[in-house]
Amino acid sequence: MGVGIKKNSLIVFNFFGNHIDPDKWKDPDIFKPERFLDGDQNFVKPELFTFGYGRRSCIGEHVARSQLFIFLTSILQSFNILPQKKLDNLRGNLNIGYRCVECKVIFEPRDKLKAA
Ligand code: HEM
Repeated sequence: MGVGIKKNSLIVFNFFGNHIDPDKWKDPDIFKPERFLDGDQNFVKPELFTFGYGRRSCIGEHVARSQLFIFLTSILQSFNILPQKKLDNLRGNLNIGYRCVECKVIFEPRDKLKAA
């Protein structure tokens, strides 16, 4: 039962595979934040392992989540972010992180700022 793992083996979790698994996600290449909302617009916690899993999962998850929330909401309060040209998909280069091949965006001040 299960898989035997030799002592001192290094195990690297396939985070990327988990995030683009078409069995879990419809259209994994499409940027679709509303996929995390149910019919009543409530947040549905996804089956993701962005911060690892189990005993050695990330101890900074709560710090990271609150920092990202403040960072992103501050930007989105002030700017509309538009692609310079239409992106066909989110495919990119996989290294230690994952980067779009090309993703130039325009930060357009929101109406409130334009009027000031
Ligand atoms: C978006 C931001 C972050 C992501 C995606 C992330 C992701 C991860 C993942 C996947 C692991 C587990 C690696 C493994 O399985 O071996 C991990 C571990 C860890 N993370 Fe993060 N992390 C983030 C931010 C942070 C921050 C802000 C801190 C510190 C304030 C932090 C501290 C740690 C530490 C100390 C571990 C090792 C835990 C252990 O081995 O017991 N991380 N992180």
